[in-house]
Amino acid sequence: MAADLVLGIDSSTQSTKAVLVDASDGRVVAQQSAPHPTGTAVDPRAWLDAFDQATDGLLPRASAISIGGQQHGMVALDRAGEPVHDALLWNDTRSSAAAVDLVAELGGPQACAETVGSVLVASFTSTKLRWLRDHEPEAAARTHEVLLPHDYVSRHVVGSGEAFTDRGDASGTGYFSTADDAWRPDLAEAAIGHAVGLPRIVAPSGIAAKTATGLAVGAGTGDNMAAALALDLGPGDVVVSIGTSGVASAVSVSRIADGTGSVTGFADATGRFLPMATTMNAARILDLQCRLLGVDHGELGRLALAAPAGANGLTISPYYDGERTPNRPDATGTWAGLTSGTSREDVARAAFEALLCSLADAVDLLTGMTGETATRILLVGGAAGNPAVHALAPAILGAPVTVPAPGEYVALGAARQAAWAWSGSTEPPSWAPPHAETYTATPNPLVREAYARLRDRTS
Ligand code: XUL
Repeated sequence: MAADLVLGIDSSTQSTKAVLVDASDGRVVAQQSAPHPTGTAVDPRAWLDAFDQATDGLLPRASAISIGGQQHGMVALDRAGEPVHDALLWNDTRSSAAAVDLVAELGGPQACAETVGSVLVASFTSTKLRWLRDHEPEAAARTHEVLLPHDYVSRHVVGSGEAFTDRGDASGTGYFSTADDAWRPDLAEAAIGHAVGLPRIVAPSGIAAKTATGLAVGAGTGDNMAAALALDLGPGDVVVSIGTSGVASAVSVSRIADGTGSVTGFADATGRFLPMATTMNAARILDLQCRLLGVDHGELGRLALAAPAGANGLTISPYYDGERTPNRPDATGTWAGLTSGTSREDVARAAFEALLCSLADAVDLLTGMTGETATRILLVGGAAGNPAVHALAPAILGAPVTVPAPGEYVALGAARQAAWAWSGSTEPPSWAPPHAETYTATPNPLVREAYARLRDRTS
């Protein structure tokens, strides 16, 4: 008998990735991808085209599908289901003033965190709705329904009908109560100025809908929640993801409400919580250096390994395009300690050190909030495969790091959710963990100290 196959999708900031997986053991049978337009404001219909391209030939082979997607993005639709404005993505900071206003309206940072799980920053959907109300009033007035990126793609798969989402991605909107596990439609209304339709929330293992051809569609979830599901996170595990954003996250059974705003108290894709500290500048810290030096990431890593720890005094504050951890939406980067002797190797080394120090800050904030010691740090994301990261991360993070084999973990987590929904069982399927390598090094606190000094004197 043919194996049951499930399709997992990662509709990410850069592209749509599709993995076709054997539902019984998680083995990848086929995978394809298609690019997305660049920028932080994007016509969301481009994601539907990319979905069609990435799933071409795979869709008919699957019994079930789930969509993982970039969190937070605002997909505002009119009565006919057409976008009233480009989708504003998680990394679009135009709504930072709106975030300040909404936090105040909710009674200040602690009250805001108690209400929606997090202190709102420009990434959250509600702040984008407020920006729309204030800057594009005509588009705001035509907004009938507001979806997250993954919901928009899920409805495209079904073809029509009521939109749906899950508690994980919903918890990044700013109008979902993590205490009640339910929408706060009044908060969406307060943000945009009138009542709007919101997608139905489907249980983590639920089948949300079936297509005309009988394909079962799972709830889907945010990309970070999907990656956590793929990695089967347990107590003491901290995942550090180095993608466009840098993320430190951990699964927790208790709800987080961090009034300092450092840790967002998201819900996860299993019924638990996924506290997270997120940086906006991660792989792009390396990208800038690559551009300036005219090298690729591999060569940048080789150069970095040829320089001493501390890059001969060159330190970078890497908040190039504004930052969220720490919350500095208007920040730009600072390079300090340049001398006439600074070498290409130092410049490369300083970039890796800045990236890892910024992530170490995120890990400290996270574990400070959950009260759990990080017994295992898992490094994932594009830059996690770089030998310079393997050498420098354990020294800067101060703990051994485990690097799972490169894989499409967001898409795989979505596939695991689809297999769970398809199985009808109470627990997600047990799939073998990915092959992983562990790297160790002697901790080097001096690099973090230099970084902290620069961080604290810039703003
Ligand atoms: C998390 C966040 C990012 C996006 C990236 O809050 O904004 O990690 O999910 O796609």
